[in-house]
Amino acid sequence: MIQETTLHPSHLIWPIFVKEGTGVREPIATMPGVDRVSIDVAVECAAQAVALGISCIAIFPVTPPELKTDDGRHALSPDNLICRATRAIRESCGDALGIVCDVALDPYTTHGHDGVIIDQDVANDATVEILCGQALNQARAGCTVIAPSDMMDGRIGRIRQALDGEGFAHVAIMSYAAKYASAFYGPFRDAVGSAKNLGGASKKTYQMDPANSNESLREAAFDIDEGADIIMVKPGMPYLDIIRRLHDHFPVPIAAYQVSGEYAMIKLAAQSGSLDERAAVLESMLAFRRAGASCILTYFAKQVAEWLQ
Ligand code: PBG
Repeated sequence: MIQETTLHPSHLIWPIFVKEGTGVREPIATMPGVDRVSIDVAVECAAQAVALGISCIAIFPVTPPELKTDDGRHALSPDNLICRATRAIRESCGDALGIVCDVALDPYTTHGHDGVIIDQDVANDATVEILCGQALNQARAGCTVIAPSDMMDGRIGRIRQALDGEGFAHVAIMSYAAKYASAFYGPFRDAVGSAKNLGGASKKTYQMDPANSNESLREAAFDIDEGADIIMVKPGMPYLDIIRRLHDHFPVPIAAYQVSGEYAMIKLAAQSGSLDERAAVLESMLAFRRAGASCILTYFAKQVAEWLQ
């Protein structure tokens, strides 16, 4: 009766990794329990998500290395993995499931950065140009939400303009507004195969400094002003203070991303018998909601929804 915070499957967004093939379920060593799946299996996952009442699925492509280039141009191909997966899921689920498509070039670049490199650094404006094309490409494939994770400046406004200009006013934008240059993304980079490409380089020239809090307010203000419908904080648990600050400052929905490294920490601790997985995961979900998150991206989404049933 007096519980202040609630948790429901509709609060969840389930990120999945999609690769070429059929009937593929390839385990990811650094994320036990999470697989890279082929499109047909992703369609099955989508059906499970609908049955469990999960709101959205977020698709991340594992691009074959031979399709990666310096400028990441495969992001613009209507037949790339993320577009084919989006079309297949949209066809099978109709409007019953939201589809979140990531906007950033790292799955497609030989150097593993989220943008194109000019004079040895990621070039903001040249990248934004390509990101608009990527967003349109994914909107045409049928996604519900465009989620720019690239952290270039000014991209939300430009993407909004591009989407509206081509009749996609109904496609929402969930901006990674406060995305920190974090060590907790390690397993994700293994999962999509960008770790090798990045080769230890950092993303500190465009992702945020973990030392900064006020900066998250400025980043969020820009994105909201430019048209973001939902703002994200990432990683999640180490940045609950940021979720709370943004929640108190801005009357917009906030998404929390419990990233791959957070997933691995809980999963591996549970596997070694150090943690009760169910109790720890559900507590982490409540913590996000208590901090002010409307929705949570988590690799535990399916499991959490099953527990909540
Ligand atoms: C890249 C992207 C990353 C994640 C989502 N989109 C990694 C990065 O910035 O290097 C991380 C998600 C996770 O760790 O679970 N645009």
